Amino acid sequence: MKIVSVRDYDDMSRKAANIISAQVILEPACTLGLATGTTPIGCYKQLIKWYEKGDVDFAEVSTYNLDEYRGLTHSDPQSYHYFMRDVFFDHINIDLARTHVPDGSNPDAEAACAEYDRIVREAGYVDLQLLGIGRNGHIGFNEPDEVFSKGTHCVDLTPSTIEANSRLFERAEDVPRQAYTMGVQTIMQARRILILASGSDKAQAVHDMCYGPVTPNVPASILQLHTNCIVVADEAALELCPKA
Ligand code: GLP
Repeated sequence: MKIVSVRDYDDMSRKAANIISAQVILEPACTLGLATGTTPIGCYKQLIKWYEKGDVDFAEVSTYNLDEYRGLTHSDPQSYHYFMRDVFFDHINIDLARTHVPDGSNPDAEAACAEYDRIVREAGYVDLQLLGIGRNGHIGFNEPDEVFSKGTHCVDLTPSTIEANSRLFERAEDVPRQAYTMGVQTIMQARRILILASGSDKAQAVHDMCYGPVTPNVPASILQLHTNCIVVADEAALELCPKA
């Protein structure tokens, strides 16, 4: 794991955007694994700016998102389909047909997950996977568990994730209780992983991810075993880690 310590959220966002744009410049037809949540929004904003300046071109890029709430239609403003268009895809020249998000509107969990696994597998997995981290160390929606998950599957969200995500919904009762998420094994197939963290509420998770034992109880800890994983975290998120 390579840990890059940055000042704050803006610095993290620019560094992450630099890494992603370098990937796209070097391999214009690359595959990117993308994430939702508030953490990557600044990175997406920076990439949009560089796209507008003509510095980066997404015409040939394909994307594969990590997860989606079960039971929300693609046009539901709380869905990750909507989020990705709203914060990123509608502002760059990506071909929407090349963007992929698990189909939360399909109530048949088994079929929806198997279909997404097929799509990601046939794409040959991703060149660069962008990740955020949950306060409990989750990645995608892979919550702390007894075992590491494998392919795309349906998860029951933990009370702490429902609570953390409720800030984005009008009422806590509106937060869906289930989601479809890429599994940990699928995430680990990415050629390169870029995980971002900002703020002291992520400090324990970042410490446990980088310095704790590799355990499914902290799903992100498995990234210690990935051969090409970059952590870009700000000072607050690194406050419990040994100083470099
Ligand atoms: C959600 C998403 C994750 C994300 C995490 C952290 O549960 N499924 O992909 O990394 O929350 O979110 P945030 O970046 O808003 O702190």
